[in-house]
Amino acid sequence: MTMKGRRFRRRLRTMLSVCVATCLGALDAGAQVEQQARLVEQGQKVYDLHCVGCHGEKGDGQGPAARLLIVKPRDFTKGVFKFRTTPSGSLPTDEDLYRTITRGVFRTSMPEHALLPEKQRLAVIQYIKTFSDRWQTERSGQPIPIPAPSEDLGSPESIARGKAVYELLECWTCHGRAGRGDGPSAATLQPDEWGNPQKPFNFTKGWLKSGPTPRDVYRTFMTGLNGTAMPSYQAIFESPDGENIREGDAWHLISFVLSLREKQNP
Ligand code: HEC
Ligand code: HEC
Repeated sequence: MTMKGRRFRRRLRTMLSVCVATCLGALDAGAQVEQQARLVEQGQKVYDLHCVGCHGEKGDGQGPAARLLIVKPRDFTKGVFKFRTTPSGSLPTDEDLYRTITRGVFRTSMPEHALLPEKQRLAVIQYIKTFSDRWQTERSGQPIPIPAPSEDLGSPESIARGKAVYELLECWTCHGRAGRGDGPSAATLQPDEWGNPQKPFNFTKGWLKSGPTPRDVYRTFMTGLNGTAMPSYQAIFESPDGENIREGDAWHLISFVLSLREKQNP
């Protein structure tokens, strides 16, 4: 073969391999779209079986059971979620939704679904996302890291420091000085994002909605609860000024808040 012929064949081969790569890429993307569509379809079946009675056919929280419930089922059409690891205002991650669906929301009718096969839990997450356009235009937020709890968590010193932080950050305006959810602002809170009445948590009684462990409480006040008056304290604790707020104060606050539980209420 001539020199020219050889060069031609080499070029042809490169062209072909580039083409094969792009075609495979396109196929790959096609397969992903198809897989997503299949997940959504499976998710709808799970939803119609386990969720529709409360969250409603349109995902607007208006299922037939809703009017009987005091804490109303979430309206998914707004794309606003309370329980996240992500910063205030942002969308939750799939893991966040998975955690909520698996554990349920304590003190409300939202049931746990730990026995629902994992595949079905993953599929229904994708289906829930079809109710709000937010999922088309935005990505989930970046999770806020949760460091290991400090060693003196729960010690008398830690509780005392936590009480001071609770005063300083004015948690009491909503949650009350003794943590009973009866602070001066409690009665004046506007309805939440979904138009339902909201109440600051009473730390002395009952289960925390998004989990009972120190890590769960840390997550709550770092992220805030979107759609409610419960604010995010991420900015304050992420870079403590060293004067009013010191390193480790977040865990002291947790020591205090958890110390308020009345012993007879496990
Ligand atoms: C018996 C009623 C009921 C059923 C059944 C139910 N939920 Fe809920 N769900 C609720 C209530 C009530 C809330 C609101 C809790 C709150 O605002 O504190 C909720 C909240 C949620 C949230 C929002 C959490 C957040 O971060 O804001 C998700 C997600 C959710 N449910 C998913 C599901 C899925 C998926 C199913 C079915 C597998 C389901 N729910 C079945 C009552 C129900
Ligand atoms: C402006 C009012 C307001 C302030 C200030 C406030 N909270 Fe809240 N907080 C709420 C409301 C309302 C809820 C209940 C939301 C719900 O159940 O949907 C809540 C819930 C909570 C919960 C319970 C979450 C759960 O899992 O059930 C914790 C923990 C909490 N707040 C901690 C704090 C701490 C710590 C501070 C101060 C650093 C604070 N809050 C300041 C309004 C407030």
